[in-house]
Amino acid sequence: MQHISRRGLIAGSAALALGRPALAQGAPIKIGLMLPFSGTFAALGENIAAAFELCLQEHGGKFGGRAVTLVRLDDESDPAKAPQNVNRLLERDQVQVLIGTVHSGVVMALVQAARERGVPLIIPNAGNVAATRDLCSPSVFRSSFSNWQPAYGMGKALAAKGVKKAAWVTWDYAAGKESGEGFRDGLRAGGAELTQVLTLPFPETNFQPILAQLPGLGVDAIGSFFAGGGAVQFVKDYAAAGLRDKLPLCGSGFLTEGVLKPQGAAAEGIQTALHYGDGLDNAKNTAFRAVFKAKINREADVYAVQGYDAGQMLAVGLDATKGDASAVKPMAAAILAAKIDSPRGAFTLSLSHNPVQTIYLREAKGGENRVIGVAADALADPGTGCKMAS
Ligand code: PHB
Repeated sequence: MQHISRRGLIAGSAALALGRPALAQGAPIKIGLMLPFSGTFAALGENIAAAFELCLQEHGGKFGGRAVTLVRLDDESDPAKAPQNVNRLLERDQVQVLIGTVHSGVVMALVQAARERGVPLIIPNAGNVAATRDLCSPSVFRSSFSNWQPAYGMGKALAAKGVKKAAWVTWDYAAGKESGEGFRDGLRAGGAELTQVLTLPFPETNFQPILAQLPGLGVDAIGSFFAGGGAVQFVKDYAAAGLRDKLPLCGSGFLTEGVLKPQGAAAEGIQTALHYGDGLDNAKNTAFRAVFKAKINREADVYAVQGYDAGQMLAVGLDATKGDASAVKPMAAAILAAKIDSPRGAFTLSLSHNPVQTIYLREAKGGENRVIGVAADALADPGTGCKMAS
């Protein structure tokens, strides 16, 4: 049974008089973690959740002075189940903050709920450009990237190397399509051209029909977006098909992120572009990687970094409102004004609430995605169609 103190009652009636729900003093704030804990993106969801919890621990288990109750929900990276899953968190579990998700299709249900109900949402991965373009909202934030950003960096770096024509291979869904557009824009910025886009349905991994077409395309290189289990399989199949020496493979950094061990020798030498890399030499990254390894017993990767930074952003927002998650305006103002001390390097958000960040060029070597250069410095997503940005 819940004990309501006299002070609590008075605070409650004062809040009611102000037309706001009572912020029960000392009551934990409920945060929903909607992520994939099964399927091709399961490892990504696990690292995001683990690092978010690590950030919470580092804040003494409190955000904005309030204890936190976390509610985990496995979204299975299934867009068809997404609206119902979001509803479960908001109606059944009564969460006050949403953190999620990985998949660009699934995230749209979260974005819609955050826009309609004014519930704060921090996206710790999904790069669907609409979330911080046409559908941008005061209550929607991203701690990760837009699908356009890493692929733009890769296209630019490839063109700078003298590649003139390239093709894009990916899953047929928003993340694949939008990263292909970033790749195209990056190639164009360097005077090169995207000539073909080849797709298969998400999350299929029968790559043979596509691999068989690649040598006949007349391109100098292949760019790609795959992630998680699908990326493991694609990189292995690409090598097994004997394509590595004929057609250099590159991509958005997710292609080799968190998956180098199972990819083994097949990944050696693959260049990718991402807002993170192994061996990034800054104090925050060194400390983060050590703590993550010690507590979680895995190596940190970009997904862990994004989960951790979602926690850091939420801490900033809730500190500004003393734990009131319904006060979206001051939360947003505080997060926008903050410099987030990320393991990727400190970043700020653009006016559409997407990180402005350096995209590194990396090369897979000896089980690491080593940073070998900068593909695009302080890159912001264009934020096209976002009214907050004009
Ligand atoms: C996405 O669907 O937006 C997505 C999924 C996995 C990644 C990156 C982006 O690694």
